[in-house]
Amino acid sequence: MDGFAYKNGVLWAERVNLETLASTLGTPLFVYSLGTLAAHFRSLQQAFSPIDPLICFSVKSCSNLSVLKFLVEQGSGLDVVSGGEIHRAMLAGASPDTIVFAGVGKSAQEIRYAIDSGIHLFNVESESELERIDSIAGESGRHVKVSIRINPDVADADTPQKTSTGGRQTKFGIPVTRAARLYSPGLYDNLRVVGIHAHIGSPIYNAASYLSALDVIESLLIDVERLGGKVESINMGGGFPAIYDAVQSERVSLQEMGAAICTRLLKFNTRGLRFVIEPGRSISANAGVLLTRVEYLKDGWDRQIIIVDAGMNVLLRPTLYSAHHCIWPVRSDGSDGHWIEVTDSSRGDKAGQSVDVVGPICETGDYLALARTLPQLTQGETLAVFSAGAYAMSMASQYNSRGRPAEVVVQGNQYRVARQRESYEDLTALELVGLDPLEHPV
Ligand code: LLP
Repeated sequence: MDGFAYKNGVLWAERVNLETLASTLGTPLFVYSLGTLAAHFRSLQQAFSPIDPLICFSVKSCSNLSVLKFLVEQGSGLDVVSGGEIHRAMLAGASPDTIVFAGVGKSAQEIRYAIDSGIHLFNVESESELERIDSIAGESGRHVKVSIRINPDVADADTPQKTSTGGRQTKFGIPVTRAARLYSPGLYDNLRVVGIHAHIGSPIYNAASYLSALDVIESLLIDVERLGGKVESINMGGGFPAIYDAVQSERVSLQEMGAAICTRLLKFNTRGLRFVIEPGRSISANAGVLLTRVEYLKDGWDRQIIIVDAGMNVLLRPTLYSAHHCIWPVRSDGSDGHWIEVTDSSRGDKAGQSVDVVGPICETGDYLALARTLPQLTQGETLAVFSAGAYAMSMASQYNSRGRPAEVVVQGNQYRVARQRESYEDLTALELVGLDPLEHPV
């Protein structure tokens, strides 16, 4: 399902040798396989084909323009959550009528920008946001289509607490019990309230959680119709899982999940509804790896510490969510085959000792993996951190004044730099103005 594999003891992205790429372009380096992005997009299309949804790739998962442009060319719409993401979507060539705009805190400026850009649908998260959009649409002389993001009070037990969004204790959506009246015709002068949106978290491992949300959506639909409103579209959000380790690869089937959701949705589709989904990680996570170099090895009190050149500044997920990313040397003698089998340390045959893989940042929480069984490593060698195509570069920072890594896209035996490595000058460019004497009297 993805384009990263070991051949003759070295890791390749499609037909590009990643050891060579790392020495040509330096590390840390994100590498995305376009073939893999396309394959994942197609497999989602397939999994959800019974409902033929508009698939809006979640820009926040991987915001690189080359990636967005490529997915748009494959037929993807985009799910955006800020003015900055709308700007990216436009540069990537997305057609405005394939863009959905979510987010709990849309500013007036962002709403104006979205309306002026003609985006398809707002996913609205509060009554006061509805009023703000209504008033800005009025000023622009436009009618705007909106979906209500409901809070269905449904949570998947396996989703990390920090990214579980469907429960009543979270900030997301309008409690579903207050939603039906918002669809009453004529309630807003410049809005057409036409959609129901629910995104219950990310990732969601159990189809049953989507089905519970759909139960809630179906009763809302009935209430809306009783009050004279009409729903035209249902957006199931994202959260479809990606595979991060060997255990999950046996547990999660996107095709089965899609089939279960589609069967349920089709049961109440005598209404001619259109469907939207907003997948992020299921498309991008396993289309990317992070290449990082071993700077030092040192013996701690009770285990070896591997210090690499990428830390929480580059990949925050282990620190923030205790997320697991497979890590394995890019050159691994005798390794052949799919990365997840090669890195599965439960096989024990290639594994060496338990080590901590840590970054260069001055925080104890700066690590990529703790107590991980890896083969014997050497200073200067390159490691691959897998499943790094989603919520990796898009969450990277310049903390400790380290420039963000470069990004590369690969297709077949060719690659292109898709974002340059940030230089010292890039780090300070916006601050040089502050070195001048104070000049603004109050
Ligand atoms: N739709 C909405 C409204 C969302 O908030 C999100 C993700 C998605 C779609 C896409 O979810 P996906 O298919 O990628 O799971 N930084 C965290 C994930 C945060 C997700 C935020 N919203 C992580 O690294 O796991």
